[in-house]
Amino acid sequence: MKNLTVVDHPLLKRDLTILRRRETPYGVFRKTLSDAAAILAYEAMRTLDLHLLEIETPLETTAGYQIADEVFVVPILRAGLGMVDGFVRFAPEARIGHLGMYRDEETKEPRDYYSSIPGGIEAARVFVVDPMLATGGSAVQAIQHLKNHGARRFTFVCLVAAPEGVRTLNDAHSEVPIVTATVDRELNEHAFILPGLGDAGDRIFGTE
Ligand code: PRP
Repeated sequence: MKNLTVVDHPLLKRDLTILRRRETPYGVFRKTLSDAAAILAYEAMRTLDLHLLEIETPLETTAGYQIADEVFVVPILRAGLGMVDGFVRFAPEARIGHLGMYRDEETKEPRDYYSSIPGGIEAARVFVVDPMLATGGSAVQAIQHLKNHGARRFTFVCLVAAPEGVRTLNDAHSEVPIVTATVDRELNEHAFILPGLGDAGDRIFGTE
């Protein structure tokens, strides 16, 4: 598995445990996913470029920094919406794109149903977010869609990845770094991640 960062942080392990638990209520699930996404964002944004600038403290002139990159956050709907808030905490000026995709229950193939991509994505640092990387089909298609819009610089950020999904994304877009809280054991026959946390979209929105 290439280009893979599994974020190792006690707060993230605590949050992942809350998210995995069957009995966690929707409100707690949403809040905890947002917190976990912020920790993932903090790590995923470690490679942002900086501009050096001169600033005045109350006492003297010194060097400071500002983020040089334009940041785009693109959630894969629905479940990716639960991670946006965690990202914009650190990049409040980020532009947000939206990609609507659901996975066909029979074929497990992703189906597009919505796309809204702000202009200016060509030079931006694009964080594609979705809590689950299962077969990898949705992530591969989402990144291809954004490449077709001219995007070039990606990071894919998820909470739970399956080994199959990491391999598929590596094979299709080998240059794209993947940041996750965990790589779980396997997919079951319905392409659900084991042990996983169930259907993230249903648990965020209470549609179970
Ligand atoms: C889930 C999940 C990912 C996708 C992962 O979405 O949020 O988008 O499946 O599966 P893949 O890696 O095999 O493509 P789902 O289809 O349940 O839609 P939802 O987010 O609207 O619930």
